Amino acid sequence: MPTVLDGAAISAAIKHEVKQEAAKLAAQGIRPGLAAVLVGNVPASQIYVRSKVQTCAELGLFSELITPPDTVTTEDMFDLVNSLNARDDIDGILIQLPLPAQVDAKLLLDAVLPEKDVDGFHPVNAGRLQAGRPALAPCTPAGVIEILKRSNIPIAGSHAVVVGRSDIVGKPAAMLLLHQNATITICHSKTQNLGEVTRQADILVAAIGRPGFIAPEMVKPGATLIDVGINRINTQEEFDRYFKGDLKRELTFAKRGTTIVGDIHPRAFEIAGAYTPVPGGVGPLTIAMLMANTVRAAKMRRGL
Ligand SMILES: NC(=O)c1ccc[n+]([C@@H]2O[C@H](COP(=O)([O-])OP(=O)(O)OC[C@H]3O[C@@H](n4cnc5c(N)ncnc54)[C@H](OP(=O)(O)O)[C@@H]3O)[C@@H](O)[C@H]2O)c1
Repeated sequence: MPTVLDGAAISAAIKHEVKQEAAKLAAQGIRPGLAAVLVGNVPASQIYVRSKVQTCAELGLFSELITPPDTVTTEDMFDLVNSLNARDDIDGILIQLPLPAQVDAKLLLDAVLPEKDVDGFHPVNAGRLQAGRPALAPCTPAGVIEILKRSNIPIAGSHAVVVGRSDIVGKPAAMLLLHQNATITICHSKTQNLGEVTRQADILVAAIGRPGFIAPEMVKPGATLIDVGINRINTQEEFDRYFKGDLKRELTFAKRGTTIVGDIHPRAFEIAGAYTPVPGGVGPLTIAMLMANTVRAAKMRRGL
């Protein structure tokens, strides 16, 4: 039987460590602070940001929710970021994406001070990460490494294949795996004979954004499968394609009319050595690593 890599439990362990670290800092009069900027009324973004702010409170971090209207201009946002950059009680600045079309997201993300860039999106942090210097790494790929390490999956010497090369997930995941001494291959939409490449993977990271895209025949038996994908499905036909015979899921789907599937076909998990389920695998790590990055940013800024 493959091992299920329990992201929720690993996330809880990391949050517990962050809480202890925050308590130590509090004893020195330091309260790490996160500013969460949520523009407009995108329901999914509201849910994400609310849970980030709530987690800050649970772990003893200061947080401030700033909610500009969806008519906000790039200039207004630029002024806001600059004011947050200047504040001593703010260690991390999170700008929830997506932003309205009239706002230049790239310009704004670049305006965040690299030392407060707790999402790890700033080019300076990307460069530091590549150069193997201390950097705030993007939360989701950093979470992938935590799952592997804390589950005692050997990374050094393994062949890690990452499917997806986004700046947010694929590229930094590959870089972090390289720093852990994996031999890495990065695949993307122009990769030829993808299945031949993915079948060589001891560790296969899928960050594609296409439901169930990695089929069982694309996986080496016994491999560790890390599924970053989050894809919502709503039709019975889609449900049957991925989950037919999964009675527990059928009940949830019948009740809610929707469920999520990763980028790896659930049948591929059956031949894996270990895998991250969806939901409950990589997903819960993202918030935990954001909290860890906020504390890290607070310490780095103070030379601790
Ligand atoms: N768990 C979490 O907290 C979390 C966080 C972030 C993202 N996600 C999920 O992770 C997935 C990826 O996110 P992302 O932001 O990295 O997506 P993205 O920016 O859309 O990047 C997708 C990548 O997949 C590649 N790709 C697309 N079709 C492909 C194909 N047919 N064969 C091989 N590669 C293909 C693309 O290649 P090209 O570069 O050639 O176009 C691209 O590099 C999404 O499902 C997203 O919802 C989850």
